[in-house]
Amino acid sequence: MTHLIAVCSGKGGVGKTFISAHLGIAIHKLGKKVLIVDADMGLANAQLMLGVSPKSTISDYVLGGKPITEVITQIDEGLELLAGASGDANIVNMPLASLSDLCHVIETIYTDTVVIFDIAAGISAQNMHLLALCDTRIVIFVDEPTSIADSYGVLKLLHKSDHLSETYLIPNQVSNLSSGQSFYEKMNSLCLSFLGRPVGYLGSIEEDKAVRSAIRSRKPLPYSFPNSTAWCNIQTLAHKVMEYDSREKTPTVSN
Ligand SMILES: Nc1ncnc2c1ncn2[C@@H]1O[C@H](COP(=O)(O)OP(=O)(O)OP(=O)(O)O)[C@@H](O)[C@H]1O
Ligand SMILES: [Mg+2]
Repeated sequence: MTHLIAVCSGKGGVGKTFISAHLGIAIHKLGKKVLIVDADMGLANAQLMLGVSPKSTISDYVLGGKPITEVITQIDEGLELLAGASGDANIVNMPLASLSDLCHVIETIYTDTVVIFDIAAGISAQNMHLLALCDTRIVIFVDEPTSIADSYGVLKLLHKSDHLSETYLIPNQVSNLSSGQSFYEKMNSLCLSFLGRPVGYLGSIEEDKAVRSAIRSRKPLPYSFPNSTAWCNIQTLAHKVMEYDSREKTPTVSN
């Protein structure tokens, strides 16, 4: 079964691409096939975090008519990237029907695969459509008023479209795991008070200097800083995703 996971945030620059790429690597290391889709269509950069140089992008599939299997970049056996295009307005404004087709094609070809969509910042119709198409939604936020407000905005929109279930939070760049847990609890009580629904918790990722160094050297954490705190945190998250994955598309929201 294909498990479509969307990684989003509302606000930009909070770690979506870093987390999508590393969660993908960590899940692959647990023995699962993984496809990472750079759905930050106009300003793609997942390839930089993954240390690969794609020859083709999603643009060659959507606009160039190439088969999807020909535009995929292989990172490792069973770990692939559908790279995004950079600076292409036609891709940013992709019709919603084309996004549905893309997900359908992926589900047909990538059976028994975890597919991670790195969603662009903001609440565009394209972003919200992709979030609705995915089985699981992960909302990243950091402890800053703008990030909290924007991620709550995304949760509110998901609630309105009846997609708040199977939605999980990851507080990123936290000083320690217990403060991450309490950021989650604050956000969850907002949801309970104003939306009347809880939101799930996947776990937190600590602030770690190794992240910036790994990105700068274009070498993912397991190959540059395998003992780093952030990589440990991500491996814990990957185990949790796999627990939900084994429940076959029907994870229960935990508090
Ligand atoms: N846990 C962490 N510890 C330290 N730095 C981090 C951590 N997570 C992310 N960062 C830093 O935050 C920056 C932004 O990360 P990233 O590009 O993944 O964000 P994004 O949400 O994808 O941004 P955009 O909205 O522009 O696509 C990176 O340069 C990275 O170094
Ligand atoms: Mg990004």
